[in-house]
Amino acid sequence: MTYDPWSQHERRFPGDVAAARLMALKSHFVERSAHYIGFPNSRLLSFAALADFLKFNINNIGDPFHPNDGINTCDFEREVIAFWSTALHLDPAVGWGYITNGSTEGIMYGIAQGRDRYEDSVLIFSEQSHYCLYKIAHLLRLPHRVIPSHPDGSLNLEALTTTLAELGGRPFILNLTVGTTFHGAIESPQQVLELLEQRHCHDFHLHVDAALYGPMHCWIPGSPLFDFRLPIHTLSFSGHKFLGSPIPCGLVLSHRDPIQPFAGSAEYVGSLDTTLSGSRDGFSALALWLVIQQLGPQGLAELAAESLQRAVELVRQLQEAGIAATRHPHGCIVVFPRPDQAMARRWQLATYGDSAHIVTVPGVTQEMIATFITELVEAETQPAASLVH
Ligand SMILES: Cc1ncc(COP(=O)(O)O)c(C=O)c1O
Repeated sequence: MTYDPWSQHERRFPGDVAAARLMALKSHFVERSAHYIGFPNSRLLSFAALADFLKFNINNIGDPFHPNDGINTCDFEREVIAFWSTALHLDPAVGWGYITNGSTEGIMYGIAQGRDRYEDSVLIFSEQSHYCLYKIAHLLRLPHRVIPSHPDGSLNLEALTTTLAELGGRPFILNLTVGTTFHGAIESPQQVLELLEQRHCHDFHLHVDAALYGPMHCWIPGSPLFDFRLPIHTLSFSGHKFLGSPIPCGLVLSHRDPIQPFAGSAEYVGSLDTTLSGSRDGFSALALWLVIQQLGPQGLAELAAESLQRAVELVRQLQEAGIAATRHPHGCIVVFPRPDQAMARRWQLATYGDSAHIVTVPGVTQEMIATFITELVEAETQPAASLVH
């Protein structure tokens, strides 16, 4: 007998009204996706091969290295962890990690580990760090210091040096962002570690927030070092950004550290309670696993190179159209003056003050960019044209 408890319920749904609403929602998503250039969500694979798995109650609750007793994808999750550990030079034999709900959770895990390492510590992060840092400082009840950034979004090393001097040897947790949210600047862990060495700072925990660039820049020759080849403590990235998972998710990596901010027993489900979330999505583990199967290191490297090349082209095209566009070295985020509200909404541009940006991840096509630039130039010249009438 085939096990199929779903069919009797499936017959009841969807009714006509619900089906019409879903069709309308899908059309809306198709249209919005064709104008989606402002946020870093790749469109890599359709993930249709995984559709059947939506029927199951997959839950990776607990520690992926101690799979729970239920229906889970922890074997696939561990393969994903091993792949990215190797790519980021963390020996899988001494590494640990798990698939999170997104970068916010990964950063929080890393910083919680830092807080437990040094109880009287201060959290340091730059002005251009992701806004979740404030929430994390609040939730972990950590005093924090924000380092002003340079106007182009890059890390101000002098300001960091001043803050370190002011702390007078107090332990700290430092969050460095490899690919800042708005400008795509790389806050170089290597450069900062050299500074810390010069200043004889030893009591610190370094978390690298590589939300977008983590699974991308490890394939780009010549990018600044940011991974476990350096003495960093924890690193996290998002799975729905460069890797295009349809479900928001992320990965946090750490050494198999004796300091575990969460290390309870989850006997009830047959696992260990080492993760921030209890129940954890097992579908996104499959999505991240499928990306690795379909693309592998070679395919990922090609897509990363294409993204950067598209950003180079975009800067050139915008500048040719008379628009002041900039990009950080190794960046796939192109910043330019904020257009009017209608353009910003139509193309879902992320805006910050007087600036807007486009993120050239896979899925942002040459055709989309060409249409955008044509519309942008028209919008800029329209007010002058209307004056003539
Ligand atoms: C640099 C950086 N860190 C953290 C985050 C938060 O990521 P998530 O939405 O996956 O929690 C983002 C999101 O844009 C980001 O750009």
